[in-house]
Amino acid sequence: MKKDYIFTPGPTPVPPEVGIAQVKMIHHRSADFGALLERVLEGLKYVYQTDNEVLLFTSSGTGAMEGSIASCFSPCDKVIAFAGGKFGERLVEISSAFGLEVVAIEHEWGANADPADLARALGANPDTKGVLLTQSETSTGVVNDVEAFGKIVAATDALFLVDAISGLGAVDLKTDAWGVDLCVSGSQKGLMVPPGLAFVAVSDKAWNAARIATCPSYYFSFEAARKSQSKSPPETPYTPAITLVQGLDVAIGMLREEGLDAVFARHRKLARATQAAVEALGLRFLAQDRSRAFVTTSVWAPDGISAGDIVKLMRNEFGVFIAGGQGKLKGKIFRLGHVGYFDPFDIVVQVGALEMALNKLGVPVELGSGVAAAMEVLAG
Ligand SMILES: Cc1ncc(COP(=O)(O)O)c(C=O)c1O
Repeated sequence: MKKDYIFTPGPTPVPPEVGIAQVKMIHHRSADFGALLERVLEGLKYVYQTDNEVLLFTSSGTGAMEGSIASCFSPCDKVIAFAGGKFGERLVEISSAFGLEVVAIEHEWGANADPADLARALGANPDTKGVLLTQSETSTGVVNDVEAFGKIVAATDALFLVDAISGLGAVDLKTDAWGVDLCVSGSQKGLMVPPGLAFVAVSDKAWNAARIATCPSYYFSFEAARKSQSKSPPETPYTPAITLVQGLDVAIGMLREEGLDAVFARHRKLARATQAAVEALGLRFLAQDRSRAFVTTSVWAPDGISAGDIVKLMRNEFGVFIAGGQGKLKGKIFRLGHVGYFDPFDIVVQVGALEMALNKLGVPVELGSGVAAAMEVLAG
């Protein structure tokens, strides 16, 4: 018998009650679905800490990234995008695909995006229409200081777009208070639902931009989504992933019951425990600032060992799924997950499996030392 454990930073484990809620098929043009969608859209506002309208799309998170660019910008609009990882690069790629002029700030993978770089770039480009930032750069484990960036953008006419796909529901993000105009997320990480739903919270400033934007869009058109969601009860323009919306309803209920502050505190504690284990095992972190890195812990493979071999061994022999490196970090790092439906014992299992894999690959580790360090934090 081999049991599988999914510890990747997306998709993440799904609580059984969320899975069970997806069993019964209902019709999306029914009163039941209307009431469900109304509740879920209200619940998303709670998770986003926003009074702004949250649009829901049936797609992975990238769909809402694309929809935000297509619906709120025009070709040749200038945007400043921070590219310090695979997902920051995606913001550059999507903007370029829609003909925007992109000022890409490429910072070192593993380093945080620097607000001073934004201030400088805005000074040199006063005609900037948008600033694009990844909150939690899942490919490196870095979590950026959205609040500090928001303060700088708020003093300009530019829209502030934040990719919170892996950070929402894990790391504090005050959408309205921090001036985020387009806050994008997805179902399969902090929200504890399978992949397939994408969301974006849209500010009035962004709706004003959408009125004059000329990039082509159809499926991800904000106008179409808003028109349908404005009905009473709300609808979606096209067939939504009905069962995922049912699951999301339950997941939001769980987040409400725990309370956002407790959810963030749990993520902080699990991250600190994981970091303590990594340190005890004598391994090196990729993320330079770990004070906010609560979503995933990115670790350099020990010298002479391929990170891919660690990931494969953990998967194939122990059924423990962690993530490898992406893009230029492929084979060099592995990523331990702790976002979403995780508890202390998920960290113990994950670290235990890592120790056993390292041991099997001939890395000198004292079995149990990482687990003990993690448990010290978890017990505290
Ligand atoms: C920060 C971030 N942005 C974007 C994406 C892409 O989202 P999706 O795969 O749901 O389209 C991910 C997924 O891992 C992510 O973590």
